[in-house]
Amino acid sequence: MNQTTVPSIPVDAILQPIEKANGLPNQAYTSNEFLAQERDHVLGKSWAGLWFASDLPKKGYVKPVEFMGLPLVILRNKQDEIKVFHNVCSHRGMILVHDEMEVQGALRCKYHSWSYNLDGELKGTPHLGGIGQQKSDGFNHCDHGLKPVRSTVWMDVVFINLSGDAPDFEDYIKPLTAKWDNFLGQTGLDRLRTAANGRGMKIAVNSNWKLAVENYCESYHLPWIHPGLNTYSRLEDHYHIMYGDNFGGQGSNAYRLYDQAGTALPRFPEWPQEKLEQAEYVSFYPNVLLGIQADHAFAMIIEPLSCDRSVEHLRLYYVGEEALSDEHAASRNATLESWRVVFSEDIDAVEGMQRGRQSPGYGGGVFSPVMDNPTHHFHQWVARKLKAAQASGGKIAE
Ligand code: FES
Ligand SMILES: [Fe+2]
Repeated sequence: MNQTTVPSIPVDAILQPIEKANGLPNQAYTSNEFLAQERDHVLGKSWAGLWFASDLPKKGYVKPVEFMGLPLVILRNKQDEIKVFHNVCSHRGMILVHDEMEVQGALRCKYHSWSYNLDGELKGTPHLGGIGQQKSDGFNHCDHGLKPVRSTVWMDVVFINLSGDAPDFEDYIKPLTAKWDNFLGQTGLDRLRTAANGRGMKIAVNSNWKLAVENYCESYHLPWIHPGLNTYSRLEDHYHIMYGDNFGGQGSNAYRLYDQAGTALPRFPEWPQEKLEQAEYVSFYPNVLLGIQADHAFAMIIEPLSCDRSVEHLRLYYVGEEALSDEHAASRNATLESWRVVFSEDIDAVEGMQRGRQSPGYGGGVFSPVMDNPTHHFHQWVARKLKAAQASGGKIAE
């Protein structure tokens, strides 16, 4: 992994109790140098969302992606496993996969035609040892495969840990699943399905990735930014969520299920009857936003493009094959459209906060000790990562 310098911003003021704490300073939102440091010391040291496994529907699918400037490739191998590799040929460093595609045999480099199987093993090296010679003395093919990136898939999100030394994903996710088992039961995640119609959307925002997370964590802005939503799922119907160290957000006790006669979407069978109007919206730190309702779920990956530009990639998940029928197409579309309205309303807020961070009259701001707890929880998470980097002198696992 590339090594950046250690982020130098003072973190002790951020790590104070909420009544006294400062928010992250402007530089954390306006500096591309800081963004590069975040890649290696914040996002790269934990489990970051990269893409959606369902976008690689068949064995042999490969998809090149960039993660904060790093060229990566996601693929589904012959064993149906999702793998992530650095997208660079071991020979002279050519980008290996240029386009999303389904490959029949091997991944072949355009430059000198070295080829790799879908487990990243180097298999073909034409003329390596001279014309017609695939081998060369002292050259071990097994030493020159593609470099893997630690990855896992959960709730359709392909998560990566660039540093390779984050806690096991199972330990990381446990505080969230311990809570969500109460809604989804043991079978809920296995039932999630995407549909061609009502699948998702992509939203470009002129803001730092953290502002999208912070905005998602809070319900405080609801009456003013989402007046329509606030007519039935009101500010006072919401509660804070802080599950363990890595998950913060909000829940509602007044979610309105899409329920037109005959077209109601199928629901999670184990979701408790008395909680049908409950819904939870949780930021999976650093960059994945999750939502669960009794009749659908969603995941949004925030892709940081630069310090002041991000893209939000959303996928909606419905409950079981039955939810994918034509009969439910209108309900799926209506569900997606209702989220389009809400997420579009948020754009102004996050872009306005981004512009505000150009001001010398702002130094990170303060928190309401009652309304801003999840936002403060997220700032503390970022600050702890920065502090750990400062304490280690910026040492990054190779
Ligand atoms: S750079 Fe890929 S084969 Fe030479
Ligand atoms: Fe919002």
